[in-house]
Amino acid sequence: MEIHRRGSSGVSDRSDEFIGESIGESIGLLSRMPDIAFINGRFVPWAEATVSIDDRGFQFGDGVYEVIRTYRGVPFELDAHLERLSRSAKELSLLQPYSRTQWMEWIREGVKLAGYREAKVYIQITRGVAPRDHAFPPDVSPTVVMTVRELHPLSPAIRHAGVAARTVEDLRWGRCDIKSINLLGNVLAREEAKKAGVFEAILVKDGLVTEGSASNVMAVRAGSIVTAPEGPRILSGVTRTVVLTMAAKERILVEERFFPVDFLYTADEVFLTGTTIEVLGVVEIDGRVIGTGRPGPITRALAARWARLTGSG
Ligand code: PDD
Repeated sequence: MEIHRRGSSGVSDRSDEFIGESIGESIGLLSRMPDIAFINGRFVPWAEATVSIDDRGFQFGDGVYEVIRTYRGVPFELDAHLERLSRSAKELSLLQPYSRTQWMEWIREGVKLAGYREAKVYIQITRGVAPRDHAFPPDVSPTVVMTVRELHPLSPAIRHAGVAARTVEDLRWGRCDIKSINLLGNVLAREEAKKAGVFEAILVKDGLVTEGSASNVMAVRAGSIVTAPEGPRILSGVTRTVVLTMAAKERILVEERFFPVDFLYTADEVFLTGTTIEVLGVVEIDGRVIGTGRPGPITRALAARWARLTGSG
């Protein structure tokens, strides 16, 4: 993979210089920074982590992102996240500026610098800085941003009780498989959920359940898990993949197909999957009680397996 280095954007690339420093020296520089910011190849104090108003991420939402979490300081499923980042970038003909190995080094360094036991790593790549014009600008260098912040996991009480959700019309574009920073449909849906006082918005397109505003949705019926198939209508979650593999190990049948809202209302169990929420039972949707009103046995079995896998239980 080509390693592109910035030069002409007004943001210098001190990546080699910085990476060349020991973590100790870096910490000296950044010791009062609880959250870590990285921009175009450099770890910088938060206040200096700024991008141009001409950035196409700001102007058009022309970029991609990833959210990765750590368990006891180790990024979880890093390969899968970086693979999806590359794929998203490729689908938008966006130059992926750093190699996989380079990303891995920087993510690990960022996590170490932050020092959090549980951290949330956010990566964003935009097409770069250019005067506003919809078509791709020539010779533009991508803008790359990474932040490392403390992750506050959901409380055991919430996990134990399960959460409520509401359905919202899925207004998003036709390529939800790309993890684009253009999240307006997701933002509006989540706001509806917030207004309704529930945890998540479950998106519905043409009467069929696609996914959550920031999660994948799984229904359990007669011992089988049913979930929307991979394709342009959903983001294929890293957690979704791991959970479906776990389900196979538990000998739980998985059907990847679309299902209507009614199927959700009458499911034995419903649960959400996602990087920060992991496996989370949904016990009420649009005011209707799901199953027994408690996270069901399959949800609990998968959540327990997840906790064993990640050492978080
Ligand atoms: N969102 N679907 C959508 C629309 C999402 O935004 C996410 C994650 C998922 C679950 O993907 P994963 O298991 O890889 O986290 C599914 C992240 C966490 C976010 O936008 O903050």
